[in-house]
Amino acid sequence: SRNPYRTLSGTSRLAGVMGWPVSHSKSPRLHGYWLAKYGIDGCYMPLPVEPENFQAALISLRNLGFSGVNVTIPQKEMAMPECDELSDRARRIGAVNTVTFAKDGRLLGDNTDGFGFLENLRQEAPDIAFASGPAVVLGAGGACRAVLVALLDEGCPEIRLANRTRKRAEDVAAEIKDPRIKVIDWPVAPDALDGASLVVNTTSLGMVGQPKLEIDLSGLPQTALVTDIVYAPLMTDLLVQAKARGNPIVDGLGMLLHQARPGFHRWFGIDPEVTQELRDFVLSPD
Ligand code: ATR
Repeated sequence: SRNPYRTLSGTSRLAGVMGWPVSHSKSPRLHGYWLAKYGIDGCYMPLPVEPENFQAALISLRNLGFSGVNVTIPQKEMAMPECDELSDRARRIGAVNTVTFAKDGRLLGDNTDGFGFLENLRQEAPDIAFASGPAVVLGAGGACRAVLVALLDEGCPEIRLANRTRKRAEDVAAEIKDPRIKVIDWPVAPDALDGASLVVNTTSLGMVGQPKLEIDLSGLPQTALVTDIVYAPLMTDLLVQAKARGNPIVDGLGMLLHQARPGFHRWFGIDPEVTQELRDFVLSPD
């Protein structure tokens, strides 16, 4: 390269991730890896923005010539009304995680979490028709909606939705309004797993520092794919239990990596690859 010091210039493309706090975000490491790998003249930075400054900061980033930003907790819902245009999936999920600043100054909002969820399963379990039968989805928080919309779009014939607070699951089902979503009891009884082809944990249970997810998988077909959106640890108790009884499993790290691809593609011009080396790099300390 003619610029071995990777200094920025007036034509460098700029992007980042807004959140509060944002220091824990793996996105700068992830995008930084791809920028270096593909030799792109660009920069992706953490952008700590207090919620009360969110709107002003978003407009400022556009005015500063940024290509776009990712938006993380707690600003995913706040970004929706600020966008001039929303993708169909962002509207249905009810949250925005990727904002692109168009040439004409308009803010285009998208949500790539469901795409990341599906792409991870397609890459890690290419031979499994995970959406061909009923899916059991645990949790009714922010992450669950992206998973539900993705599975419905994938043609999943039935989704059994279970959440500790049943009302939240009923509210999500009422908002997404698809008769294939059926709210079931929490905790999940063994017969609720009958005939399922997929089990997804979208709760925070099993994450480091959180209680573990208690579930009896004895009613689950051994062919069913079991996946978790938790990736710290990579092998949650759910995945350990599923693997021990012979089910195929996919961990949650790939969802994080794949959800970043559409933003990177739009802002920097290349649809980047998710590899084992990237997985190792994103998880390594420093
Ligand atoms: P996010 O938006 O990141 O998904 P969230 O909205 O706080 O986070 O959702 C967390 C999910 O984990 C919810 O489904 C929550 O269940 P409730 O709706 O009943 O709160 C679930 N969850 C968290 N701690 C739990 C626990 N100890 N037992 C059962 N479910 C739990």
